[in-house]
Amino acid sequence: MCRWICFKAKAPVLLADLLTRPSHSIINQSFDCRLRLDEVRPLNGDGFGVGWYDPAEPFEPPCVFTSVLPAWNNPNLSRLAAKIKSNLVFCHVRAASSGFPISESNCHPWSYGNLMFQHNGYVAGFNKIKRALQALIPDDIYHHIHGNTDSEWSFGLFLTQLDDPLRTQFVPDELKGALLKTVTILNQLATSAGIDTPSLLNFAVTDGRSIVCTRYTNCSDREAASLYWSSGSKFTCDENNEYQMHKAAKKEDIVIISSEPLTFTKSDWCKIPDNTLFMVTPNVNVLLFPIEDEHWNPKADREPEVPWWTVAGRIRSGTE
Ligand SMILES: *[C@@H]1O[C@H](CO)[C@@H](O)[C@H](O)[C@H]1NC(C)=O
Ligand SMILES: *[C@@H]1O[C@H](CO)[C@@H](O)[C@H](O)[C@H]1NC(C)=O
Ligand SMILES: *[C@@H]1O[C@H](CO)[C@@H](O)[C@H](O)[C@H]1NC(C)=O
Repeated sequence: MCRWICFKAKAPVLLADLLTRPSHSIINQSFDCRLRLDEVRPLNGDGFGVGWYDPAEPFEPPCVFTSVLPAWNNPNLSRLAAKIKSNLVFCHVRAASSGFPISESNCHPWSYGNLMFQHNGYVAGFNKIKRALQALIPDDIYHHIHGNTDSEWSFGLFLTQLDDPLRTQFVPDELKGALLKTVTILNQLATSAGIDTPSLLNFAVTDGRSIVCTRYTNCSDREAASLYWSSGSKFTCDENNEYQMHKAAKKEDIVIISSEPLTFTKSDWCKIPDNTLFMVTPNVNVLLFPIEDEHWNPKADREPEVPWWTVAGRIRSGTE
């Protein structure tokens, strides 16, 4: 289980304003996350990765920086974040699932051509479906996979669902279709292998223009791993040193999607419903699609997630 964030904005944003400076930034989530379902420990210290597109070269592949050091101990990450601006960024802090080594090749996000991908959760019983999954993947994608995690192989499966994953641009619906097929195939493989534990599939994928992500579990009585979003005209620091989402004239200039809210201002964050596909279009419009497969159950009496603003131990009056 890990934590991730991605954002898309009309104008380039300094990475530090999303990744390192907010009160519950992804860096703080790396040592103090509040909402992980496994609740074993609050640490996501098994490496991290950040990937961004250069605003001057929007149709070029992203730059990805990964390290096996914990994100909170990485001066390079803070230095880069304080200087780099981008319109579209993915960042991931890792808590390795048992059995998967801590190595740079296992750090998210991964890229292939212009596409970039990250995952929070796990594919249940992965070892029992790994061979069958690999058999579906053509050689060029197969040889591009250098790590050994369920997440990176899910990316391989996703790439396999696209006609030409090396194209520089995709229609958002193509990415959506390929991501939904990936979820369906993972479920089919699990069913054939008789796996009886739930998978948690919070995937995020981008081509540098659109973002498509899922909050998904194949289990109908438990919530999926947490996922929130926020949007507005700008996300900046106020005089109290708190980041706020501003909503001037209903303009959507920035959309943030994150495993946990980046601030303790509850009204700035919406939970993405279980089993939903979330899309940010190239024009920064947001669309939500319920994933109405056999695991879709809007009335499910799911075990509720612990509300983050009470665990946070810092209830801010006026905003709750
Ligand atoms: C986030 O982490 C920094 C240290 O890296 C700390 O100074 C700050 O208080 C933390 N914020 C919260 C809200 O815990
Ligand atoms: C930071 O980058 C330098 C190269 O400039 C490298 O030697 C060092 O290992 C990096 N440190 C971390 C913490 O990634
Ligand atoms: C999904 O999760 C449940 C656990 O609730 C499990 O019994 C089932 O086998 C899983 N897999 C599929 C593909 O439904």
